[in-house]
Amino acid sequence: MQMPTELKNLTEKAAEKYQLNVLRAVSRSITESYMANKGTDTQTTETDVFGAVYSVVRMPATYGAVYSALQHTVECFEMGDSYSLLDVGAGTGAGSAAASTLLDISSFTCIEREPEMRRYGEKYLEACPAASGKTEWKSYDLRSGIKDRADILLSSYVLNEMTEQDRIKTVKDMWEHTNKLLLIVEPGTPQAFSQLRRIREELLREGAHIAAPCVHEGGCPLFGEDWCHFTVRVQRSKLHRLIKEAAVPYEDEKFSYIAFAREKTGHIGSRILRHPQIGKGNIGLTLCSPDGCESIVVTKKDKIAFKEARKSECGDLFICNKDQKLRRINNG
Ligand SMILES: C[S@@+](CC[C@H](N)C(=O)[O-])C[C@H]1O[C@@H](n2cnc3c(N)ncnc32)[C@H](O)[C@@H]1O
Repeated sequence: MQMPTELKNLTEKAAEKYQLNVLRAVSRSITESYMANKGTDTQTTETDVFGAVYSVVRMPATYGAVYSALQHTVECFEMGDSYSLLDVGAGTGAGSAAASTLLDISSFTCIEREPEMRRYGEKYLEACPAASGKTEWKSYDLRSGIKDRADILLSSYVLNEMTEQDRIKTVKDMWEHTNKLLLIVEPGTPQAFSQLRRIREELLREGAHIAAPCVHEGGCPLFGEDWCHFTVRVQRSKLHRLIKEAAVPYEDEKFSYIAFAREKTGHIGSRILRHPQIGKGNIGLTLCSPDGCESIVVTKKDKIAFKEARKSECGDLFICNKDQKLRRINNG
């Protein structure tokens, strides 16, 4: 997974004016605050260098996570022709950029309270052909009430920065301002997952339906150390490797997500929760199904299931009934 070349080049350019030791120090502070994930709303992004480092170090990963989550969601959700999109806590625009490459978006509204993030985001989305000339940026604090609405509301890597009280209040507000689909993407950590579980319970009570990744709307069967998360492999640029002092040319971004829909989606199949275990003539799958979590072994004897399992990855739907069909999107 990689951001479109033009976007990637622009993000790299943003960091060029800073020395490597400065970029590394800011990058470390971003990682520390990301890992701490305290939900205390203390993160400050009010510097140009923060925006520049975020662009190079985090944007490719958040772009990849939103792209994957959205791709999985639209497989389960009957998509129409064109949608308006509201990106709350848009940062430097990674989520909107990912959505613009996957869906036909008629208008983008990005809410971002930090001017330095917004400034970069404005520049980047103008460089995305599908978002250029269609994007409006607004600066306000989400906690004071969302003032816009759209068909699709996207919140990526935002809610975990809030206190529990603000998070629940804000997510209910997000739902009220969603016409069709609310997609929430968060870090793939146990802490962020437990926040998503609580959000899941709250919004189900508000009458929301779940489009993905859950294949049912009953209680979540994952507890304790077991948490629902997925991984997207993101290519590292040369500068990303230098800043992160990384040995390998890619990073595996772990993310958790949940997509709520106004309309009930006819769930089919089970969700693959771990990397499939490929053996000789058999494939082991950990699945979340309407009956709970289960581990199954698919053997070659079951031709249709084996064929489906062989091309599957963690996060995919597993459908082995030939009468049921995935709505795979063209550019996936
Ligand atoms: C980690 S960044 C994520 C940015 C982007 N959504 C992405 O996926 O790359 C979180 C962003 O949410 C913004 N944010 C956090 N709390 C906010 C609030 N209460 N009101 C408006 N923006 C907020 C921050 O300023 C920051 O730019």
